[in-house]
Amino acid sequence: MKFFIDTANLDQIKEAQDLGVLDGVTTNPSLMAKEGITGANNILEHYTKICKAVEGDVSAEVIATDYEGMIAQGEELAALNPQIVVKLPMIAAGIKACKYFSDKGIKTNVTLVFSVGQALLAAKAGATYVSPFLGRLDDISTDGLQLIADIRQVYDNYGFKTQILSASVRNTMHVINCAKIGSDVMTGPLSSITGLLNHPLTDSGLAKFLEDYKKGN
Ligand code: E4P
Repeated sequence: MKFFIDTANLDQIKEAQDLGVLDGVTTNPSLMAKEGITGANNILEHYTKICKAVEGDVSAEVIATDYEGMIAQGEELAALNPQIVVKLPMIAAGIKACKYFSDKGIKTNVTLVFSVGQALLAAKAGATYVSPFLGRLDDISTDGLQLIADIRQVYDNYGFKTQILSASVRNTMHVINCAKIGSDVMTGPLSSITGLLNHPLTDSGLAKFLEDYKKGN
């Protein structure tokens, strides 16, 4: 399973990259605003910085909600760097734009997906990635992991190549359960990745090894 970090924070991106397990980055307009990155030019410049900080795919979201606007913005984003994946909202214009970019060989990520039917449409439009938001479903007492499992089954039934990018991951258990289901990718905060390092038996075991080593030296 690929690990993407869901942030526009360069320090956190670098920390995950330094760990050696990072496969890419996802961002969205809210994450950009959280870092104080506003204005079209600053946002484009920030995407370029993110691409320099990582080796893998970087999802950059269009703001337009009409087809022509999505095409113009998506092309501008894709021209920044070959790592850029054009992120499109799950609306009719987004699906149409997804088909346009897929046909041109430009990578796409259909975002804000909350149902199997939406995921099916994204796959049929040739999306590189589909982003079901599992945490936001859990937030409204709906089983987000079941949605990931259902999309996995439908994609496997027909051999769709679209990668399931489990998004809105909030914690380490989300990561582990996505891996059990067979999600292709997960994107979450830095803590959902570094949290996987932790186990008290690792800490106590290492302390004992070091203590015993000192005794013999
Ligand atoms: C996905 O690409 C989104 O950026 C993200 O995962 C949304 O997560 P949130 O529900 O924690 O905002």
